[in-house]
Amino acid sequence: MDIQVTTQTAQEVTAEVLIVSAARKTGKDGQGVQLSATATTIDRTLNGLINELCTNGEFKGGLGELLTIHTKGRMATKRVIVVGLGAENKITTQAIRHASAVASRHCQHTGAHQITLALQWNSAQSNVLQGEVQAQVEGALLGLYTFRMYKHAGDASNEKNISQINVFIEGSIEKASVEQEIEQGKILAEATNFARNLVNEPPNVLTPSELANRASSMAKQVGLECEIFDKTKITELGMGGLLGVSQGSAEPPQFIVLRYRGGQATDKGMALVGKGITFDTGGISIKPAAGMDEMKGDMGGAAAVLGAMQAIGTLKPAINVTALVPTCENMPSGTAYRPGDILRISNGKTIEIVNTDAEGRLILADALSYAVKEGLSPIVDLATLTGAIVVALGNITTGVFSNDEQLTNEIVAAGRVTGEKFWAMPMDEEYGELIKSDIADVKQTGSRAGSSITAAKILEQFVGDTKWAHLDIAGTSYLDSKKPHQEKGATGVAVRTLTELARQLSK
Ligand code: BES
Ligand code: MN
Ligand code: ZN
Repeated sequence: MDIQVTTQTAQEVTAEVLIVSAARKTGKDGQGVQLSATATTIDRTLNGLINELCTNGEFKGGLGELLTIHTKGRMATKRVIVVGLGAENKITTQAIRHASAVASRHCQHTGAHQITLALQWNSAQSNVLQGEVQAQVEGALLGLYTFRMYKHAGDASNEKNISQINVFIEGSIEKASVEQEIEQGKILAEATNFARNLVNEPPNVLTPSELANRASSMAKQVGLECEIFDKTKITELGMGGLLGVSQGSAEPPQFIVLRYRGGQATDKGMALVGKGITFDTGGISIKPAAGMDEMKGDMGGAAAVLGAMQAIGTLKPAINVTALVPTCENMPSGTAYRPGDILRISNGKTIEIVNTDAEGRLILADALSYAVKEGLSPIVDLATLTGAIVVALGNITTGVFSNDEQLTNEIVAAGRVTGEKFWAMPMDEEYGELIKSDIADVKQTGSRAGSSITAAKILEQFVGDTKWAHLDIAGTSYLDSKKPHQEKGATGVAVRTLTELARQLSK
């Protein structure tokens, strides 16, 4: 995507679409619409048309609401789109990111090839709020994302490709800082879209070996160290969880290790661990047919980790980060693992298998043990781990399970910066009672009640005293229907937040 800064005036901008913002008024005169400074300039050029339409009730400034004006030669731009930012007193960079995504997607669906972003709210003081430009660029690139590579050209008839984005800047703003924000937004959105591609790829293409290939070529591109452990090495390391889950599949398991070194050589640095089940049938405890196709997304944790590594490798924070991705398929077959089996994880602990559909915790147990053995801290793992987290938090919020309150707070805070929602879940000792086994060190599952928590309690057994957080993204990594700001399918959740977390921890 070509992204340029334009310093033409609002009247001069020769865009196909110029996108400006407006908010719903709050406070004493809490009625009507407040236009941004740029929207006000345009309104004057159009003899008050925008304000008139607002007075008539055609536009109220709600978050993501759109008003389209065809300028018919009264301005150099063909169309002006006013997008709502919601309540005036609650405008955040996330509102701008979201509005930019909605408006950009709308332009894509209505035939534009080029758009000019002018959504900044604070430009009245000729002083763009820090992060406003980044949020616009990020929002636009996330909103414009599609996954069409398996459709023949010309199929999505009304969907032209937007190939150019301009960023409109007024007043005496330092161009260099604007360009830096554009670059940041672009890096973060592209890393997120890289993760989305991995999740959206069909499982016949994105096998464990192909996931390893994609990780390795990304690593080469951004200059990360990359090691791929094959089945022989995995066996040598005694990763009985990963071997057990993969043994029903014709595809061999892989264990991906990426390293970014931006910190002190003596510092081990943090670990990012991602569940990489490229397809989850449930195994012998097979899943129902309805919706099983979505289980191609059961490597959403792996994708988030790889996306974050792409962004981290490009942005280069002063911290060491190691990514660990155990990846395999969970298939039923004559060689598959069974309920009743006992698997030995690489740290020596045994797990009694109760349900082969609870496979994620088994491969994560091996990866967490590996992180602990390497002395990495903190450890953050991401996984589409449980259906129960979808029941609890829906598709809006990611559940955080941790043995460290400060780390939890850092993750929630990083999410506030990126506009992603995280919520702390309980980890009280009582939940541990439910996963006691009579014949092994631990039982693989508890009952249905609280099963996201018992899953996390299993993981906790493999991190020892290391600071650790587990993010259950089963609800947030995949959308089963499209939204105004987002395509159906992978969301790329947590890529930007993990990157922000690494930056915060580097300070
Ligand atoms: N991959 C699934 C969890 C999942 C469900 C992800 C829905 C995305 C959307 C996981 O492997 C699984 O099957 N979990 C079981 C665990 C149960 C058998 C203890 C579940 O949540 O039902
Ligand atoms: Mn499963
Ligand atoms: Zn799974």
